[in-house]
Amino acid sequence: MVSNVIQFIFKNKIFKIENPDPNKTILNYVRDDLKKTGTKEGCAEGGCGACTIVLGEIKNNKLIYKPINSCISFLPTLNGKHLILVEDLIEENNKLHPVQEAMVKFHGSQCGFCTPGFTMSLFSMYKSNTSITNDVIDEALSGNLCRCTGYRPIIDAAKSLNKKKYQDKFKKNQNKTIGLLKKIKNTEVEINKNGKKYFAPKTIINLKKILKKYPDAKILSGGTDLSLEVTKFRKELKTIISLNSIEKLNFIKKSKSSIEIGATTSLFDFQNFIKNYYVDFHDVLKRYGSLQIRHVGTIAGNIATASPIGDTLPLLLTLDAKVVVQGVNQKKIFSINEFFISYRRTKLRKGEFIYSIKIPFNKGNIFKAYKISKRFDDDISSVCGSFSFLIKKNKITKAVIAYGGMSEIPKRASAIEKKLINSDFSENTFSKALYLIDRDFSPIDDMRASRNYRLTVAKNLLLKAFYEINNKKIIRVNS
Ligand SMILES: Cc1cc2nc3c(=O)[nH]c(=O)nc-3n(C[C@H](O)[C@H](O)[C@H](O)COP(=O)(O)OP(=O)(O)OC[C@H]3O[C@@H](n4cnc5c(N)ncnc54)[C@H](O)[C@@H]3O)c2cc1C
Ligand code: FES
Ligand code: FES
Repeated sequence: MVSNVIQFIFKNKIFKIENPDPNKTILNYVRDDLKKTGTKEGCAEGGCGACTIVLGEIKNNKLIYKPINSCISFLPTLNGKHLILVEDLIEENNKLHPVQEAMVKFHGSQCGFCTPGFTMSLFSMYKSNTSITNDVIDEALSGNLCRCTGYRPIIDAAKSLNKKKYQDKFKKNQNKTIGLLKKIKNTEVEINKNGKKYFAPKTIINLKKILKKYPDAKILSGGTDLSLEVTKFRKELKTIISLNSIEKLNFIKKSKSSIEIGATTSLFDFQNFIKNYYVDFHDVLKRYGSLQIRHVGTIAGNIATASPIGDTLPLLLTLDAKVVVQGVNQKKIFSINEFFISYRRTKLRKGEFIYSIKIPFNKGNIFKAYKISKRFDDDISSVCGSFSFLIKKNKITKAVIAYGGMSEIPKRASAIEKKLINSDFSENTFSKALYLIDRDFSPIDDMRASRNYRLTVAKNLLLKAFYEINNKKIIRVNS
């Protein structure tokens, strides 16, 4: 069934919006139409967390909660979700929710502007974790900024929630919410409002049909890049095709030789999966944006954006990943090493979409990856370095080295690789090879880093990889 009505659960009821504006953000809907002004706008670009709301959805027959930035999420993406705002936390008998109580008790608020956003991040943390460790707290709060209280009282509030057993109203209403979500789950959405179109097909066949008709349409996955065209650059997106209702695109499959990640799999889901195979991939992802960003953002979106500082890209280059591209008629598989053509241009053609990404298990290879950014959390890389070595009897038989932030596309360091291959795995070899960095790269000065800084850091990261492997020891600020 195709409909121009989106449906979601709000306050234990099914809410319907007929033909919503596809460019309107959830934040603007919440504040302007629902008149719920607890949710704030700080930056309008996903960077401060003041607009954090929580969405509930069914996964493996369970209700899960994720925090998102409502300022960069388009209203139609609410379809099929449970919307939870800061105003909804209070219990039926007017008692504060435990996370609100904790914020009051530990003086987690001063001017109050950031407080609703922090409270929602704490709420999602509380609902998603039984044990609230320092690591869980760091991750939960990494996408929220406070400019006056400071973080210590908020962290204390978070710590006090550890192992707190309390049946909140969301727990009590869980079965009812699941029932309502199941009731509204099955619609395929097509909107046409003031010349702006939005499609959310449920099958790949329908997606192909829409792409054939609208090859210039913008494909929407998490929207953490695309939405900024509206919220920051004030553009109008005429035709959007959301992939998020296509269940067949949301998967992680493991075979003997590789891992395949479907296009709409969130970075958060992938981060948790990859930990067991490439731990440094997991560690870089933990510093990728914030939990709000990683709950919706995807690897496919990162690849299609093709930013020179896209964090997954040098890692995928080093691991020799494959990009599976689906066109209207055929599927093509590219090595990621040939996928990026020039600044933000890829081999993706109009009417095509990324179906999945395949990461091979390179048996025996040692994989290392590091992200350098001005802030530890929720910041884009200045330089990202990724390294894979095969070492046999102290000889380097394979060296694959890639950097982000060093040129107009994420790129391999071929001169350094050549120098390392067939050399001894020794400090002397690496010390000599790293001076070839300016043969491989000529980085620019910009607000994130100077050319010299980038060159120096790139050399140091290579050395760090050597020391970590040689000494069998991790050298990290957070280790
Ligand atoms: C606050 C903030 C912090 C961020 N931090 C980081 C960071 O630390 N590291 C980093 O690398 N990036 C970061 N980003 C950028 C962004 O989150 C990533 O590039 C993300 O991976 C994009 O994925 P998405 O699913 O949200 O893509 P979308 O925004 O949905 O799409 C991005 C582009 O890719 C296209 N596209 C999406 N999916 C497909 C597909 N399957 N096939 C073809 N085209 C497709 C879209 O049409 C669009 O042009 C950040 C962004 C924000 C707002
Ligand atoms: S308003 Fe800053 S993250 Fe949304
Ligand atoms: S309480 Fe003022 S910004 Fe956080």
